[in-house]
Amino acid sequence: MVDALGVAVVGFGWMGRVHTQAYARVRHHYPQLALRPELVAVAEEVPGRAEEAAERFGFASATRDWREVAADPRVRAVSVTAPNFLHREIGVAMAEAGKHLWIEKPVGLTGDDARAVADAVAKAGVRGTVGFNYRNAPAVEAARDLIASGGIGTVTHVRIRLFSDYAAHPEGALTWRYERERGGSGVLGDLASHGADLARFLLGDIASLTADTAVFVPERARPTGATAGHALASGGEPGPVENEDYVSCLLRFASGARGVLEACRVSVGEQNNYGFEVHGTRGAVSWDFRRMNELAVSRGTTYQDQPVSTVYVGPGDGEFAAFQPGAGNAMGYDDLKVIEAYRFLRSIAEGRPYGATLADAVHGAAVLDAMAVSAETGTWVSLPAS
Ligand SMILES: NC(=O)c1ccc[n+]([C@@H]2O[C@H](COP(=O)([O-])OP(=O)(O)OC[C@H]3O[C@@H](n4cnc5c(N)ncnc54)[C@H](O)[C@@H]3O)[C@@H](O)[C@H]2O)c1
Repeated sequence: MVDALGVAVVGFGWMGRVHTQAYARVRHHYPQLALRPELVAVAEEVPGRAEEAAERFGFASATRDWREVAADPRVRAVSVTAPNFLHREIGVAMAEAGKHLWIEKPVGLTGDDARAVADAVAKAGVRGTVGFNYRNAPAVEAARDLIASGGIGTVTHVRIRLFSDYAAHPEGALTWRYERERGGSGVLGDLASHGADLARFLLGDIASLTADTAVFVPERARPTGATAGHALASGGEPGPVENEDYVSCLLRFASGARGVLEACRVSVGEQNNYGFEVHGTRGAVSWDFRRMNELAVSRGTTYQDQPVSTVYVGPGDGEFAAFQPGAGNAMGYDDLKVIEAYRFLRSIAEGRPYGATLADAVHGAAVLDAMAVSAETGTWVSLPAS
């Protein structure tokens, strides 16, 4: 028996489109899903953008006011894909209105915001899923399984990197992302949030850390019109960049392993260079998002000159089988969001969590807050165990 579930999307930029397409595709890949999402409403503040989305993707209604979505009884689940400063207000309001929540990372501007949304979701008894999509990659799940089974021995250290050039252009518009009030932190919330989640997903709790941050492009042009994504604003009036372009961080895990996390949004020559290298006493495993379906694995007891192999993930790894029949057929970024949609809808259908939850967002936000404190004070900052 398949029930219809009315869904809405709030904020129709890049992520709004990707969530919408994931709802549209999810049953193609997961026909066993007990819920069929129906695109009931889209809310977007830029005039005309919601109507355009409704026309193109088939939402039954369009509005500029997300409060209409909160009040709409047809809507049972909501994707919050608006800028970070709205996550708390919209997330809490939707949960209080009894809507299940699929909300983008970093879930607000601070750990307090993430906790407020998590508390509202728990109080309302609805389900909450967070957009930590990189942990959904079958290769990342395979790496986690390999590490957990002792396949590379005891983990000694890890390097996690998230380098991007999306903000490298000096004429990149001064959008909400660069303002404290609307974006919160800079590359911490935008990219290091994914790194913090991957670190914990792969290796468990981070016990303490110390971080350094920097702004490399201190001024940008204010946008001359509505923006989405990473638009240029040539000729716009200049304004200050209020949050960090770069972070480097030393990590100590509760397990005793050590780590380095580095993230930058202005890395010329780096396009989504995201990944990790995990080293253990008997081997290593590494992953590069740009070769999303591969792992480099070294394992055995040779220690010195031990070979490294490329492993193509296949139907036995994570959710790969829902997308491709055999190893070597590539999955892509949007597929990770289809997996996220599946886990969100399954958690609603079965009343228990699947995939990244708001508790994960709270832990991730605590790590980011600790990085910000450390960068400010120059000290090591301890984190509570989860
Ligand atoms: N998981 C990922 O890999 C990933 C990637 C990119 C962005 N994100 C997250 O997704 C969120 C959105 O990012 P994006 O890249 O789609 O940004 P974007 O700027 O492309 O889109 C945001 C949209 O929200 C709209 N908006 C602003 N105020 C609104 C309001 N009051 N009501 C309704 N709509 C409103 C904007 O007009 C815009 O269309 C951010 O929190 C970001 O951190 C996650």
